[in-house]
Amino acid sequence: MIDSPRALIDVRERLAVALRQAVQQFQSSDPNVALSVTPCQDLRFGDYQSSAAMLIAKSTQQNPRELARLIINKLEVSDSCDKVEIAGPGFINFHLRSDFVSEQLSVISADPNTGARKVGTPTTIVIDFSSPNIAKSMHVGHIRSTFLGNALARITRAVGHHVITVNHLGDWGTQFGKLIYGYQHFLDKKMLAASPIAEFERLYKETNTLSEKDPNILQGVRQELVKLQSGDPENLRIWKEISIQSLQEFQQTYQRLDIRFDHELGESFYNPQLPHVVEELKKLGIARESEGAICIFFENDPALAKTAPMIIQKADGGFLYATTDLAAFRYRADQWKANQILYVTDARQQLHFKQLRTAATQWFCALNKPAPELQHIIFGSILGPDKKPIKTRSGEPIKLKDLLDEAESRAMKLVETKNPELTEAEKKQAARVIGLGALKYADLCQNRDLDYTFDWDKLLALQGNTAPYLIYAYVRIQSIFRKEDAKILGGKFQLGTPEETALGKHLIQFGDTLHAILKEYRPHLLTNYLYDLAVKFSKFYENCPVLKAEEPVRSSRLALCHLTARTLKKGLDLLGIETLEKM
Ligand code: ARG
Repeated sequence: MIDSPRALIDVRERLAVALRQAVQQFQSSDPNVALSVTPCQDLRFGDYQSSAAMLIAKSTQQNPRELARLIINKLEVSDSCDKVEIAGPGFINFHLRSDFVSEQLSVISADPNTGARKVGTPTTIVIDFSSPNIAKSMHVGHIRSTFLGNALARITRAVGHHVITVNHLGDWGTQFGKLIYGYQHFLDKKMLAASPIAEFERLYKETNTLSEKDPNILQGVRQELVKLQSGDPENLRIWKEISIQSLQEFQQTYQRLDIRFDHELGESFYNPQLPHVVEELKKLGIARESEGAICIFFENDPALAKTAPMIIQKADGGFLYATTDLAAFRYRADQWKANQILYVTDARQQLHFKQLRTAATQWFCALNKPAPELQHIIFGSILGPDKKPIKTRSGEPIKLKDLLDEAESRAMKLVETKNPELTEAEKKQAARVIGLGALKYADLCQNRDLDYTFDWDKLLALQGNTAPYLIYAYVRIQSIFRKEDAKILGGKFQLGTPEETALGKHLIQFGDTLHAILKEYRPHLLTNYLYDLAVKFSKFYENCPVLKAEEPVRSSRLALCHLTARTLKKGLDLLGIETLEKM
């Protein structure tokens, strides 16, 4: 019997708890042996499996298959499983009961969150992502941070965490000497109005070239920087102007991508706190002077001891990227009560964040305060056809805006061949959703640690692990429900065929998938899940007539279609990808 019929059950956790109880008397001396239960890759062997018997047998020198048999005898899982088997060297394989799966499908169908269970103890997670630099176009280097950060924010929020997103804009630094000099001497007001960031890039380049040739100009650039740093009102005004104009242009891209931040706090926001941060770290004995600069050495950390120290104040008194990050860390802990801070930046900043984590831990320890957990969410590069980081033909980094434009125009061609009957407005909408969705999906479906090769044809393909394939699967299901008599009359889910069973069992794993993502912050687990879902749906749809079936099977199949569509839509939404009703 199903004991709590109307509750959403965490199947993996329930099986893991039963397993822990069953192994109590056989447990090894090492209580840390992880007794996890994972979904089976190949459903012929079972739905979930555990290697617990093998792990315990190893540490207690028992026969693993024999131990598995003893554990199975003690297992109390009859409420959810009808068969538990030993496989191979001692795996324990669980087969879910069909009535249990049907029951869960009913619960999920009635759940407004489509089975995305909330976490038991919500925490405050700050996600620092995108964070481009002022006066420069956002380029493909920012694309992964922006897409990954946005997806992670949506997923962590959906399961009930308190999430704060922040755009840590690079709006301070020595580049402003050249920018301000250029602004004062070579500004083209028409270009500024038309395309501010392009104009700032031009000003920077021009001043840079001239200052290399002319020492007087170099001197002028230095003076402007010193004036800015010492609070000269006119230079502050120009700096502010450059920041505001850049941000407005970034905003257009964020709007287009439907990305919002709770806070946009540039590096400059922390400037007033920097002298205090350095003073405090010195007083606590965490930082000290070396050759005129103030540095943090990591003598007690074997991995970091060999690296260059973290410089937090230069000999000329200037502060650095690291100083700002220490101040920002403190601010997020104190003001936002962060339990965890995720930094979504590329793998090249690994040393910086390792040092930041170690320095911040020492700092908070000395202050007797709990430090938020720092997680660096790294990612690899996007490669061009030559397997080198992708560039334009002239060797410049590709601008994010150009990439978005091209995605939409290529998707338009796809829409026009696929469905020429759509109205112009519908085509435009479809091209936008498919183009931007394909770009986001291509990025998110990669294991983020790895580099990937950018390929327009692959990411826009209607077959395979792509956004167009998933959006199309969704559209196809929606078209079933446009038929007048496609009504679900109620009743139970009936999993009569292998295809219905496979689809049903996959549908009840949506919540588990989201929870699995929280462990390592890898959104590709969700894209993989959704792709599998679409494939399982398509097998079901090929083999099981829906509208032509007799009741009550007809209603059950329609309900499977409906739940699949909802799960696809919800899953894509958590990745920041829209769906279409027609295509
Ligand atoms: N502005 C930096 C860049 O473009 C990224 C900043 C990441 N966030 C941080 N808190 N350091 O590389």
